[in-house]
Amino acid sequence: MNGIKIDGIKIAQKIKTQVRKKINLLKSEGIKPCLATILIGTNSASLTYIKKKHEACKEVGIATIDHKLPNTISQNDVNELINSLNKNNKVHGILVQLPLPKTLNRFETISHISPKKDVDGLTPYNLGMLTIGKKILTTCTPLGILEILDYYDIPIRGKNIVVINRTELIGKPLYSLLLSRDATVISCHSFTRNLKELCKIGDIIITAVGNRKKFVLTEDMVKDNAVVIDVAISKNHGKLVGDADFTQIIKKASYVSPVPGGVGPITVAMLLKNTIIAATL
Ligand code: GUN
Repeated sequence: MNGIKIDGIKIAQKIKTQVRKKINLLKSEGIKPCLATILIGTNSASLTYIKKKHEACKEVGIATIDHKLPNTISQNDVNELINSLNKNNKVHGILVQLPLPKTLNRFETISHISPKKDVDGLTPYNLGMLTIGKKILTTCTPLGILEILDYYDIPIRGKNIVVINRTELIGKPLYSLLLSRDATVISCHSFTRNLKELCKIGDIIITAVGNRKKFVLTEDMVKDNAVVIDVAISKNHGKLVGDADFTQIIKKASYVSPVPGGVGPITVAMLLKNTIIAATL
């Protein structure tokens, strides 16, 4: 029997409808939400992501400021730009697209963003607050994954949830969010041994490796009726793919998110939601 293909586009539309209502309320109070993005360098994936984020803002009525900077820019100049956006009352959210060129320090750059404008939830303050259970602005992809689980009424409490990723963008905030919902979280990474055995005990598997040559989540790693959320995105023979062997896994799992059309659109919708939260802070 086939499982259910998660419809990320439908969930994203639902979130955008909620966001539009909040924007109308804010506008009636004279607040016009605005997101400033900073992209440094010419990474083609980053250019695509930034374009999608701007398009989504336009769709719901969030104003945008688009800073595209050369990868020769100094750390001081980046810090100054962020400082000026922090001081600008018309700007509610600041997003620095990652990865940064090697010449720039990620921690220093992110730390310059005011926590109140940190729509990516990546500043030490926001990540720290999340860790101690006080969510303010939280990273978009983990929030989007929770939206999926809640949309389909997939229980979290007491479930074994295998997360294959330990980054600040995905694995770490997701760990805190799932733990706060009483899951047993198994945090896996490139040094994890017996990954297949660990996956097999997962009621939910959330995978975000993004390198098909190194890792593919195959059907034999997934137990019957498991939920598989595929966060990865990479290119295979010119086609966008995730980590999971979708065609085989859907025959066995209860829910599987596709790539594209799964987590990606929801992540962008969560950025819009975070920008609205930032506009009210
Ligand atoms: N690069 C890949 N995903 C993201 C994201 O969600 N936020 C930022 N800032 N950079 C990214």
